[in-house]
Parts: sequence; structure tokens; C-alpha cells
Amino acid sequence: MSEQKSDFAKLREKAGIPVEELASLCGKTMRTIYRWENGASRPEKLAIEKLKNLVSSSEGNYELNTPRFTFIDLFAGIGGLRRGFEPLGGKCVFTSEWNEYSQQTYRANYGFSENIAGDITKISADQIPPHDLLLAGFPCQPFSIAGVSKKNALHQPHGFACATQGTLFFDVARIIAHHRPKAFMLENVKNLVNHDKGKTFEIIRNTLEVELGYQVRYRVIDARSWVPQHRERIVIVGFRDPNDFRLDDMIIPNPMSGPVLRTILHPEDGTELANGNNSKYIEIADGSVKNRYILTDHLWEYLQAYSAKHKAKGNGFGFGLVGPDDISRTLSARYYKDGSEILVKRISGNPRRLTPRECARLMGFDAPQGSDFVIPVSDTQAYRQFGNAVVVPMVEAVAKHMLPWLAAKQLGFTDLLADKEMVSVG
Ligand SMILES: C[S@@+](CC[C@H](N)C(=O)[O-])C[C@H]1O[C@@H](n2cnc3c(N)ncnc32)[C@H](O)[C@@H]1O
Repeated sequence: MSEQKSDFAKLREKAGIPVEELASLCGKTMRTIYRWENGASRPEKLAIEKLKNLVSSSEGNYELNTPRFTFIDLFAGIGGLRRGFEPLGGKCVFTSEWNEYSQQTYRANYGFSENIAGDITKISADQIPPHDLLLAGFPCQPFSIAGVSKKNALHQPHGFACATQGTLFFDVARIIAHHRPKAFMLENVKNLVNHDKGKTFEIIRNTLEVELGYQVRYRVIDARSWVPQHRERIVIVGFRDPNDFRLDDMIIPNPMSGPVLRTILHPEDGTELANGNNSKYIEIADGSVKNRYILTDHLWEYLQAYSAKHKAKGNGFGFGLVGPDDISRTLSARYYKDGSEILVKRISGNPRRLTPRECARLMGFDAPQGSDFVIPVSDTQAYRQFGNAVVVPMVEAVAKHMLPWLAAKQLGFTDLLADKEMVSVG
């Protein structure tokens, strides 16, 4: 190697990116990068451009030609996690979702060219590209802890492969084990912690912290701070390399000052146009919600009788009746059945269900009065998809909170870590 540093080597150092990172960013071997640095071969123009972008980003002029981080979207549903991370400069490099209707909605919103892999249990980790961040809202299933204890007693080898085999968390763990991304964010129902008397969460934590060696933080967050819905979810964030990231210092806006349902309901006063994305749900003439969302006498009588029966037994209410100044209960994947958890009061007559557009707003896929999210599927499928999804602004808040550690690592810019103001939440 020559004594004098080449311009290329100086540029790489200024960009603050290690040779290994640059090699993976350019799809080259480290040897090639060293050859470019010592003048043995001419650097590619694209590599020079990438470095210049990195330099300008460190000088506060970041260009998104180069993603800040890459991520994979597992159990993607309709992309709630993706929607929170992509706007921060994340690039999705792999998606898995096996439900064909969710795939339809996913493609309609993130591009018809999106290549969506199906059943994750059938995909080997080496078919998945390297990535900085793994995102997964995996379905929760019980683990057989008895099997693990027996193996312990017999001094047989075990580890996460044994402890989690046959569950979808196993697939998350094996992908992390193979790729060792810088970070992951997992999302699940609040009850994951108590599921199967706490055994499920114990195995998940043990697998992530002990077997895979990640630094794990978790927190239950109520989406009520951002949307008019009480929806508690557990967020689990892991970093491969030890750092000072915490979730308990994430600033969450006061839930008592969160928005109310008025912000997401169709105004029904003619001010909302029944154009392209909304004509399925509201009348063109006056903007009122279509009759098919109003409960039939039969269903409304049934729900009231059911509720009265359970109230008499001290079991609480069977349905949730709400008005514009309320917040709703948790939208569930079974909302399509009778809509009982969120029934909207009407001035007269039977209550109605939310329309799928209102569900898109209630889950933060659309802005409060927005109608941009494309819903290409039947109402039944749409209710299922939104009921299964994650609240987008909640994910955005977590993503912003993670960004200084995620992007600073990726770019090698420690000054980003200090720039907390740029990413402060709330
Ligand atoms: C709880 S939902 C996640 C929703 C997602 N976070 C969102 O915002 O839309 C779980 C998703 O995993 C999908 N799924 C379940 N088992 C799967 C498998 N073996 N392979 C791929 N997808 C699967 C389901 O179809 C469902 O859409």
C-alpha cells in the first residue's frame, strides 16, 4: 500500500464509514474497497457518490439516495411497522406475509412491484438479504417449557432452537441468529407478558438476551396518546451492541389529552367529498355514512339482550357505544362479525359500525380526516386487517426514539447520537 492516502481513502474517512460497511453498501468485497483505496484499481462512480452523500449528510445536508438503514418486515400484515420506519430513511429489503388479502392491500400501498414472500416458516434465512433492522409483529403462541427442562436434566444441548421450535417466534429468532441485525423491534399484545403464566415471555426474553446476546428493552404503550383508541401493545426493542438506549425515557404525549373520535369519524355534514377513496363508504349526495354500516334491528336487539344478560351476572358490558367526544375500545380482528366493541351512536335510530376508512384513521394509517390509504379489499377483510395491525403514529414515535442509535451506527456518525433534538418525540 502506498504511504500517501488516496483521495478515495480520505473521502471514506471523512464519511466516517468503515471499510466493511462500505463494502456491504456497495455490494463489493472488502478486498475491492482496499484496492480502490490503495490505487490498485479505479473506484466505481457509484461508490464515490454514496460517500459524498454520507459526507453531506454529516454536514446537515442529508440526501436520501442512500438509505439511513435497511429493514425487513416480517408478519407484515398491511405494513403498520413499515409505515413507521420508512419515512425516517429506512429501506425495506424484504417482506413476508402469507395472507393473500393482506398482500393485496400491502402492494396497493407500497408498490405493485413489491415482492412479498409467503409463509416465513418455509423461508431459509439465507434467502433473506442482510439488513440493519428486523421488524416483526409475530403471532403469540405458547412454548413447551417442560421439554426444555427435560433436556436440561438430560444434559442434552438445547437453546432457542429447542425452546421455541414450532412457534413463529422461532422463525424470528433463527433469522436474527443468522443475520445478526443491528437492531430489532417486535410488537405484540400486552398480554404477551402474562401469556401461559409468564412462560412465553420468559422464553422470548431468554432467547433474545441470553441465546442471541442482544440488549433488550420493552415497554407497554397505549396508542391512546396518538389516536382515539385504547390499545395497549408491548414493544420489544433489541440492540446487538451494548449502548445506552432505553425505552422508559421515551416521551409519550399525555393520553388524557389525546384526540377524540370526532377527529376520525366521517363528519356526515356534506363537507367530506365522496371521492375516489371514500365513495364506498359515504353517500355522494350528502356525505352521510352508507346504510349498510347501520346495525339491523335484529342485531341491535340481540346485542342489547346479550349485554343485559351479562350485566346481570356482573360481567360488564357486551358492547361499546361511543360518540364523537369519546375514545374507543380496542379494535379487534373480529370487528367484522358484529362490530360490538365500537358502535357509533346516531342522532336517532340504531347505532352503526365504523367504516373501514374510519378504521384506517383510528389505526393511524390515514391522517385524522385523510383518505389516502388504499383499501382494495372487501369490508370483512379490511376490518380484519386493521384489527390485526399496529397503530402507525405509535410506531413512528418508537422509530424516532430508536433512530439516533440505529442511524448513527449505520453511518458511523457519533454526532448523530448527540443530536437528540432532531428526533425528540412529543
Ligand atoms: C398481528 S398481525 C401483524 C400485523 C402488522 N403488524 C400490521 O401492522 O399490519 C400478524 C400477521 O402475520 C401473518 N402471518 C401469520 N403466520 C404467518 C406465516 N407463517 N408466514 C407469514 N405471515 C404470517 C398474518 O397473516 C398476519 O397478517
